[in-house]
Amino acid sequence: MRFACCTEEIEISGIRKCFESAMPGSVNLGLGQPDFDTPSHIKRAAIRAIEMGQCGYTPNCGVPALREALAEKLMRENQIDCTADDIMVTSGASEALFLAIVALVDRGEEVLVGDPSFLSYAELTRLVGARPVSVPLDEDLRITPEAIGERITKKTRMIIINSPSNPTGSVQTEEQMRAIAEIADDEDIALLSDEVYEHFIYRGEHISPARFSDNVITVNAVSKTYAMTGWRLGYLAARNEAIEQHLKIHQYVQACASSISQAAALEAICGPQDCVRQMRDEFMSRRDLLVAGFREMGVDLTEPDGAFYLFPRVGDGDLVASKLARAGVITVPGSAFGEGGREHIRISYAASRANLEEALRRMKDIL
Ligand SMILES: Cc1ncc(COP(=O)(O)O)c(C=O)c1O
Repeated sequence: MRFACCTEEIEISGIRKCFESAMPGSVNLGLGQPDFDTPSHIKRAAIRAIEMGQCGYTPNCGVPALREALAEKLMRENQIDCTADDIMVTSGASEALFLAIVALVDRGEEVLVGDPSFLSYAELTRLVGARPVSVPLDEDLRITPEAIGERITKKTRMIIINSPSNPTGSVQTEEQMRAIAEIADDEDIALLSDEVYEHFIYRGEHISPARFSDNVITVNAVSKTYAMTGWRLGYLAARNEAIEQHLKIHQYVQACASSISQAAALEAICGPQDCVRQMRDEFMSRRDLLVAGFREMGVDLTEPDGAFYLFPRVGDGDLVASKLARAGVITVPGSAFGEGGREHIRISYAASRANLEEALRRMKDIL
């Protein structure tokens, strides 16, 4: 069978390859999802939805009550001026990222992505026949407005930012977000802001660039915040004209997000939030445990302010990740996230403290 060039050109995620080579008994620090269970009040809302027969299609953009709740959340927590009409509910943040890139970027155009950054950005850009342009990070592993400004050409159509970041755990400052939003406005370039880790911040605060500009597509999900990665429920927020364009694609590829997951997400957004605080506090103490362990070993490390990843500089990241795999610790080589990550490995602390302590013991000789 012959496949489309754009499909042949994109790669299977380097992260998947790491798991395939894992030995039995390995400690898995490669995972990109919370190791907690979905809180029970959220599960109960889903069970109620099934029992009440909410099993049909929902409106394409999502159930009205959920869109209302998300708009209120975005206004309250993120200071984004929006209404339910500016929200589209999607199957995870992944679908929202796909929709935004397909809706906005033409073949031959350029998309600025952090190097390193979450794999999907560059690969989805390639999938539409456009070119991902790498923006190197500064010494704090952040993407700066200056580095973005230097790479803008007539072909630049989109800038993608992700704060807190996967894989680095860095959190953009308010000044940086404001300046990047200004660039997007001045140059009339869309700014895609992936905010799935917004609630896992240990220092600093989360700033949504849509506070400063209408040219922003905000992508988020309940996946990480409420330990709901398997429920596949995300959303995007943008001006209503943009939602109309995204809807044309969403209705053909997805029709609507899962009705059951939407009921669960409504409870997640409107229900008690102490589960989120508990997860955040637990992630922070695990981060501190690992940072202390690595400092003791003399590993070169920028202390991450958010998400649940550490991104130490270890020399040859590919080599170190494969040595660690042989010693029974799965990590992801930084090169999986772009050339700029080559000297790093990504370590996820979405794992129990006992496992983290065991991993530190196994890593000592190699690091
Ligand atoms: C930065 C980032 N964005 C988006 C996603 C995908 O989120 P979802 O599971 O909601 O599709 C991930 C998942 O790892 C991620 O790390």
